Amino acid sequence: MACTLAPVTDGVILQVGGLHPTVERELATTYGALRLPSAPGAAAAFLAEHGPEVTVAVTSAGMDATLIGALPRLAAVINLGVGYDAVDVAALKPRGIVLSNTPDVLTDCVADLAVGGLIDVFRGMSAGDRFVRRGEWAAGHTFPLQRRVSGIRVGILGLGRIGRAIAHRLEAFGCTITYHNRRRVDDVAYGYAGSPLELARDADAVIVTTPGGPDTRALVSAEVLAALGPDGYLVNVARGSVVDQDALVAALTSGALGGAALDVFTDEPRAPEELFALDNAVLLPHIGSATVETREAMAQLVLRNLGRFLADGTLVTPVPL
Ligand code: 8YV
Repeated sequence: MACTLAPVTDGVILQVGGLHPTVERELATTYGALRLPSAPGAAAAFLAEHGPEVTVAVTSAGMDATLIGALPRLAAVINLGVGYDAVDVAALKPRGIVLSNTPDVLTDCVADLAVGGLIDVFRGMSAGDRFVRRGEWAAGHTFPLQRRVSGIRVGILGLGRIGRAIAHRLEAFGCTITYHNRRRVDDVAYGYAGSPLELARDADAVIVTTPGGPDTRALVSAEVLAALGPDGYLVNVARGSVVDQDALVAALTSGALGGAALDVFTDEPRAPEELFALDNAVLLPHIGSATVETREAMAQLVLRNLGRFLADGTLVTPVPL
């Protein structure tokens, strides 16, 4: 349902980066929002003129400390996305600026994609598709045998909402689930691993579902990848920063890691070209939440957060800072 609250009369709403069309339309028509120009050099002049009036920013691309600093009256950042690692939270905190994200509405789609990626890389679905299209099947070649998914041991790195949804799906595949979080989760019966390394040692596949940001940087290290080994697989639907990407590329190209399904990378939209020719790497363009239904739900949640903030200064889905 679109937000129908009256536009705020005091202060300007700023759109930072591209957003879902529903949000962009509503921002422009209902709220008369301004858009931060993306052309090099144009932002500084824009911020000098309009920065002092901005009270709310709506973004998916993120906001760094310089941009936040150029908005002295900023009171709220409304983030389209559950992950908010691209917003400099340290710059918000001392000023009491509040932040919202879009949890829950994307959980199912991200979990679906993680399970899809796992099956794809184990069974060679994308590789098989390329094999057929290249005409190799028709030419009489045999596609190599791949690996069974049902009954494998899966380690979930980050048992939050999305991690739980993945675990729940994989229970139906007869998989044994273990997880690693900083702290044990009380209400699950899954085995707990004390570290990412311990998780990888006892798993056929590790699925990464932690938040991004400094606390989880390179949690999947060269050592963790070595523990997964030549018969082990990695699925990442979280953030590229959680994995040591250079170590991952080295492990995949040398065969030290069995395979990987990756929806996220450290330098998006660039994926490492060294992986392009590898059939044991499934490479996706960050599409975990990218369905018509889920993106529309995310857009509506953004608008509800914005409407609520303008109405009473609170948020529907605040990020605890
Ligand atoms: C989107 C995501 O790609 O929600 C997140 O944190 O990574 C994805 O759902 C992102 O929100 C950009 O729209």
